[in-house]
Amino acid sequence: MCGIIGYIGNKDVSEVLFHGLYSLEYRGYDSAGMAISDGAHLKTLKCVGRVSNLEDNYKNNEKFNGFFGIAHTRWATNGGASFENAHPHTVGKVTLVHNGIIENADSIKSSLINCGYHFYSETDSEVIAAFLDNELKHNNIFKSIQVLRKSLKGSYALGIIIDGDDCIYAIRKDSPLLVGVNQDEFFLASDISAFLRYTNKYFLLEETELVVLGKDDFKVYKDDIVVSKEFLTSNSESHSLDKLDYDHYMLKEIMEEPIVLKNLIDSYRSGENIDLYDLSRYDEIHIVACGSAMYAGLIGQSLIEEEAYIKVNVFPASEYRYKKKIFNSKSLVILVSQSGETADTIAAMREVKNMNIPTLGIINNPNSTMARECDKVILINAGIEVAVATTKAYINQVCVFALMAYTTSLSKGISNDVSLDDFDSIPVLLQNILDNSHVYKEVAKDLFEHDSCFFIGRGIDYAICMEGSLKLKEVSYIHSEAYQAGELKHGTISLIDDGIPVIAVISNSFLKDKTLANLNETLARGAYGIVVTTSELDDLKDFRKVLVPTVNRFCQSLLIVPTLQLISYYVSLYRGCDIDKPKNLAKSVTVE
Ligand code: F6R
Repeated sequence: MCGIIGYIGNKDVSEVLFHGLYSLEYRGYDSAGMAISDGAHLKTLKCVGRVSNLEDNYKNNEKFNGFFGIAHTRWATNGGASFENAHPHTVGKVTLVHNGIIENADSIKSSLINCGYHFYSETDSEVIAAFLDNELKHNNIFKSIQVLRKSLKGSYALGIIIDGDDCIYAIRKDSPLLVGVNQDEFFLASDISAFLRYTNKYFLLEETELVVLGKDDFKVYKDDIVVSKEFLTSNSESHSLDKLDYDHYMLKEIMEEPIVLKNLIDSYRSGENIDLYDLSRYDEIHIVACGSAMYAGLIGQSLIEEEAYIKVNVFPASEYRYKKKIFNSKSLVILVSQSGETADTIAAMREVKNMNIPTLGIINNPNSTMARECDKVILINAGIEVAVATTKAYINQVCVFALMAYTTSLSKGISNDVSLDDFDSIPVLLQNILDNSHVYKEVAKDLFEHDSCFFIGRGIDYAICMEGSLKLKEVSYIHSEAYQAGELKHGTISLIDDGIPVIAVISNSFLKDKTLANLNETLARGAYGIVVTTSELDDLKDFRKVLVPTVNRFCQSLLIVPTLQLISYYVSLYRGCDIDKPKNLAKSVTVE
């Protein structure tokens, strides 16, 4: 994780760096820092906590005059959130910012201590700075960075400034870095959102390349040779980063769900990538992802198995990458990721590709590593998500799975009772659901003073519960568990006490009575029941209820999950939590 921004040009450097840091803060917010140089003098400022702390500090300090700089927002890995561990790190002539984890930092550090270096932080990043400084005693900058690259094991994106020099140097491995290009100014960033306000022209730095950003031009080297780069143009709009009138990005992004869903369904209807939705040529599918993306995969599993009769297994990428994998000639691996930069999912993708098994990515970020490396890609086009908790991207991931199950079922001649027109009505229905905020606020009032909560459901409803429960715990810090409704009594029911909220999700008419019986078992032990269900199944009395319209079975979850997202949002609000940046989290998990 961690976010990096670098700038060289005629604008106010601190302004560009602060804008970049705020855009990248979703990647970590344990500390922040920046270094600005005029080529002869370099000034560094850093502090524990948020970018806003850094900005307050900056305003209280003498203004930095310079024409280039680097900055960093940190998600702590090696060492806690302290001033000493904050970036940039300076050792001798080297000042740098780092995103990633260096696996051989300890051995490098020992040999540098023998060379007389002292270390003041617990970070691997300070070790990199010392290594480079030591190399500079024997070699020029260019050669020293090449030696550094060959010596590091692990992942890194590095923005480097050298004392007395007037360029920014950058290399990367397994952590993203983009270079933004405008007339007479250049940007370096972990993510395009950091410079989209200034330019949408950019290129991706490859793992074998070194970029040198100078005042008037830039050069990219592959080994010792200068290579030319093809520029890409981003269609993402920088205004999607504005919070508009919403109090939080999470709420804004939930409210964007109808429109992103509509755009996705329209692009499918217009034939975009339509062949990728037909899975009928495969007889075994592995869905591999992390967190919410994996839970979207669980809904995919349920729909593809039930509707298209194809065997599907879902794995967390962190487990999948190390497990024995058994494939046949008709296997497909689907990788799901909002960021396209999640370290475990990328590792799983690369391993599967090495085994010559086809990979299909369901990705939001079109500029990401996974969007480039998966054999085939369906871009979900949900737009940039800023809130750490994913909402609209999850909904579009689920919609892709619904469309896949639908297409495959049709092409296999299994079902024809649902038409694409049934998908078309979903965004409007969802809009109506989102407008009922009083319902979710009432449920949130029931929940927010509790320490613990359960979600129960069966079949696809269990997959929905997994996401509902994750959302609640990550933004409100309430302990929450999702259980297959029938499993609760095999041990976990011992945790049910007076007043504990149990939320039952019931969208499946076939399993309704079973789940209800399990809910009643908890009520008999003092639980407080809340039911989330569809209008068709609503003959339930005496429960706090959340009702959504009954729609075709492919799309039902697209209407239920947003209600759980909103409940989590309001619970978090009532508990006074930091909704968009929950503690201990970061949006893009680029470490293992
Ligand atoms: C939860 C959440 C995470 C991500 C997970 C995977 O709200 O955002 O669980 O879903 O870290 O991230 P991506 O989709 O970027 O691979």
